[in-house]
Amino acid sequence: MQTLTIRKPDDWHLHLRDGAVMQAVTPETSRDFGRAIIMPNLVPPVVTGADARAYRERIMACVPEGDGFSPLMTLYLTETTDAADVIASYRDGLVHAVKLYPAGATTNSQSGVRDIETVLPVLEKMAEAGMPLCVHGEVTDPAIDIFDREAAFIETVLEPLRARLPELRVCMEHVTTRDGVDYVMAADSNLVCTLTTHHLIINRNHILAGGIRPHYYCLPVAKREEHRLALRKAAISGDARVFLGTDSAPHLDPLKESACGCAGVFSATNTMACLAHVFEEEGALDKLEAFASLNGPRWYGLEPNGGTMTLTRSDAPVSYPDKIDTDEGPITLFDPGFDLHWSVTRD
Ligand code: NCD
Ligand code: ZN
Repeated sequence: MQTLTIRKPDDWHLHLRDGAVMQAVTPETSRDFGRAIIMPNLVPPVVTGADARAYRERIMACVPEGDGFSPLMTLYLTETTDAADVIASYRDGLVHAVKLYPAGATTNSQSGVRDIETVLPVLEKMAEAGMPLCVHGEVTDPAIDIFDREAAFIETVLEPLRARLPELRVCMEHVTTRDGVDYVMAADSNLVCTLTTHHLIINRNHILAGGIRPHYYCLPVAKREEHRLALRKAAISGDARVFLGTDSAPHLDPLKESACGCAGVFSATNTMACLAHVFEEEGALDKLEAFASLNGPRWYGLEPNGGTMTLTRSDAPVSYPDKIDTDEGPITLFDPGFDLHWSVTRD
C-alpha cells in the first residue's frame, strides 16, 4: 500500500446547480475539497452581490456538518452588470471572481456577453481592484469549427482584450488545447489557466469512436490526443499558473442521453482518485499538491487550506458509484475508462 498526503485540495471551477441537484452533488465536493469557485450559470444567473449571497446560503444548507467547506462565489457578467456592485462584493470578500461567458458558448450562457466593448467599463474597474476574471474561452461564431473555437477565442478575443487591459487578471478556464496552454505559458503575467480532470483523461475519440457517448460530451469539447498530452504536461509541470478546476457539471441522465444532450461531465466524486492515477502514470505524484492544493489559492490571494488529505493506493481496484441519485433522477459519474486504485482517507 502506498499513501500520499497533500494539503487539502480546492476546486477552482465547479457547478453545483440549485435545488435537488445541488442537494445531492454538494456533499460529493465538500467531502474532499476545502473550497470551490462556484459557477454562476444558474437560470436566471447569479448576477449581483445579493444573488451571490443568497446562493451561497442555499449551498451552505447542503454541506454536511463537519465538512468545513467554503463556496467561493462568482458573478455572471452580463452586458448590464453594475460595476460598483461587482467591486463592492469583491471588497466584501463575498465574491472572488467574475465569469465571462460569450453568449451562447455553453450551458445557460444566453445572458452572456455578445460584444466585449459593452463590458469594458466593468473590466477596467476589476483591473484596478485586482479582481480576477474567469473566462469561458470559446468563440460562438457558427462559422468556426467547434474544435477550433478555443484557439479562435485566444486570437480574436483574449489577446486583444489583454493588450488593451494588461492589468486585468485573467483565468482561462478549462483549457483543452495545446494552443491554450502555450498561450498561458508565453504570457508574462496576469494570466493563468485551470484544467479539468476529464480533459487529462479523454480525447475526442472517447466521445465519438465506436458509438456516441453522451457522458463524455462537455464544453469545451475534448480535442485530439496531442492536445490531451499537452494538458497533461502542463498539469504535472508544477507551474504556478496551472491548477485544478474540475468543471464537474452535473446534468440529469435523461438530459444527457438525448437527441440533443447537454454538455457537462460530472466528476466530483472520483476526481481526486482520477488525478492521483494520472499523476502516478506520469511519474509526477510529487506535483499533485501544487496542481490541486497550492497554485489555485496563490492566484486567488488565499492561504492554502490548513488541513491535509491522504490518498491511499491499493492493489485491488476501488469502486466508485456509477451514478449519484437525486430527487429528480440519476446523474452519471465520470467513467475514466480504467480501474481506479486510489481512494481518499479523511485526515
Ligand atoms: C457546463 C455546465 O453544464 O454548466 N458545461 C460544460 O460542458 N462544461 C458549462 C461550462 O462550464 O461550459
Ligand atoms: Zn464549467
